[in-house]
Amino acid sequence: MNIQRFTDEDTLAAALAARLITAIHQAPRLVLGLPTGRSPLALYSLLAARSVRERVDWSGVRTFNLDEFVGLGGADAGSYHAFMREALFDHIGIDPGHVNLLDGRANDLDAECARYERAIAGAGGIDIQVLGIGANGHIGFNEPGDSLQAKTHVATLQPGTREANAQLFGNDPDRVPPRALSMGMATILAAREIVLIATGEEKAAAVAGMVRGAITTRLPASFLQLHPRVTVMVDSEGWGVGLES
Ligand code: GLP
Repeated sequence: MNIQRFTDEDTLAAALAARLITAIHQAPRLVLGLPTGRSPLALYSLLAARSVRERVDWSGVRTFNLDEFVGLGGADAGSYHAFMREALFDHIGIDPGHVNLLDGRANDLDAECARYERAIAGAGGIDIQVLGIGANGHIGFNEPGDSLQAKTHVATLQPGTREANAQLFGNDPDRVPPRALSMGMATILAAREIVLIATGEEKAAAVAGMVRGAITTRLPASFLQLHPRVTVMVDSEGWGVGLES
């Protein structure tokens, strides 16, 4: 793993925005995997601002989001669809037909998961997958447990994860849907390159375990150790004990 330390989340976001914009210039048909949450907000804000200012051409770029709540779709407040539109998609001139998210309102959730896997394969796979990390070490909605799922699947959220997402639901964890659709571990690990962002001290223990600990289903992000091209971008607060060694 390539571990990069930044003084704060703004310098981290600026470095990643620059890297993604360079990647788009080099490969106009780039396929990006994208996360939601607090962690990528500074990145999306910078990408939006720089895209307008520098006329970055997103017309060929395709995106796949990691996850969506079961029961929520494009028109629903609190959905990751809505989050992504507000944070990024409405500001960058991307072709709406190139934006891919899981439909949490699908009648047949398993069929929706299978459709998503086919869509990723049909796009030629994900070139760069950007990830956040949960304080419990989850990526996407692959929660710690006795086992992990390989492919896109229906996931049951842990109480702490519902609390972490409560901001989207009037700060009421009980209103956060208990289930979500999520890319699986193999879906994520199949990306050609992975960049994980971790900011804030509540992530430090998970970051240290991910980088230096054993590979375990109890800390799903630890599986990123198996991938040949992973960059972990951490701010000074998220920097865990033992990362220097
Ligand atoms: C959610 C998302 C994850 C994200 C995580 C961390 O549960 N499903 O993809 O990485 O939260 O969120 P935050 O960046 O807000 O700490």
